[in-house]
Amino acid sequence: RFSTDNSIAPNYRPIQPLNGRNITASPATPPPHLWCYEDHSGMYQLYYTPSHWFELSGSQCGGESQSPIDISTYTVVENGTLNSFTFTNFDNKHAIKSIINTGHTVQCVLEEGLVEASGGGLSHVYSTLQFHFHWGTESADSVGSEHTVDQKQYPMEMHIVSKRKDLTLDEALKTPDGLAVLGFLIEVKTDIHCKTFNSASNAEAWKTLTHYLSDIRNVESEVEVTDEISIDDLLGNVNRESYFRYSGSLTTPSCNEAVVWTVFKESVKVDQDLMATFPKNAGYHNVFRPAQAVNSRKIFTTAAATGPGPGPVWVYLLLPCLCALFC
Ligand SMILES: *[C@@H]1O[C@H](CO)[C@@H](O)[C@H](O)[C@H]1NC(C)=O
Ligand SMILES: *[C@@H]1O[C@H](CO)[C@@H](O)[C@H](O)[C@H]1NC(C)=O
Repeated sequence: RFSTDNSIAPNYRPIQPLNGRNITASPATPPPHLWCYEDHSGMYQLYYTPSHWFELSGSQCGGESQSPIDISTYTVVENGTLNSFTFTNFDNKHAIKSIINTGHTVQCVLEEGLVEASGGGLSHVYSTLQFHFHWGTESADSVGSEHTVDQKQYPMEMHIVSKRKDLTLDEALKTPDGLAVLGFLIEVKTDIHCKTFNSASNAEAWKTLTHYLSDIRNVESEVEVTDEISIDDLLGNVNRESYFRYSGSLTTPSCNEAVVWTVFKESVKVDQDLMATFPKNAGYHNVFRPAQAVNSRKIFTTAAATGPGPGPVWVYLLLPCLCALFC
């Protein structure tokens, strides 16, 4: 009514150039989140979008070994050292302490010194600190993963972040293999065969986890996790023997080139409704960094299974038939 009843055109003067003037803030003003994924119009100069992250002070975002990347399966190199992981306390139902809305992601904080990862071609034991998510929008055909495989971007990606146990976090951030991140691509189960057979194992866990998101709608809010839920519960029966490996960086500023990356080939299956609760509650969208140049890096892959794996071949041939009959 201010404009319609008075028929006054917009009555504000457009913003003027700063021309070298400084804007200062009182000590009580919280520091701004200096970087973002999408352009927040009007907040220009305060927020750096991904193509400007390299300009942030102390940033390595302009480096040669950045993440994420597109994994071209035609150029990956088989590597026999990429054996099975040992996951310690991934099955512990009290390992997830709290969930935080950081303003950039939803992060699940783990109890200190409880969860570990080793093996999997890693040269050290890593202490798992947290896991978090990357997503797109609420729409059903949304994409939001950071890594892409043969240019395919997935709806979401989960990153389980671990630090070398023998280093402090500060030291780890300055060491090429100081951190190990396990990346799980997430998609909706579209193959109608065996829906119940394959995905029922983790459906309840995702329902429980996403239930907490409505309690952390505000940036920097945190909620304690009281339900019994483990990382294994969320991952379900996804194949953890088959993965890609390369050296890269954190995918958020300061983009430290300190990460041994593992991207698992099989995706975790999650209901679309539950995936939509991430952008819906957090209030921000498209929280993923675009793929970075691979440059001279090699991307390794676990060797293709030489035998039929654990169990006779007929099981693999017969199961889809059984499911087709019963699903
Ligand atoms: C703005 O701040 C910088 C650094 O503190 C200072 O060198 C410069 O003189 C200031 N400019 C003005 C116009 O006050
Ligand atoms: C296997 O991968 C490791 C890094 O994980 C690398 O150092 C080694 O050179 C690779 N071996 C081959 C044969 O490519």
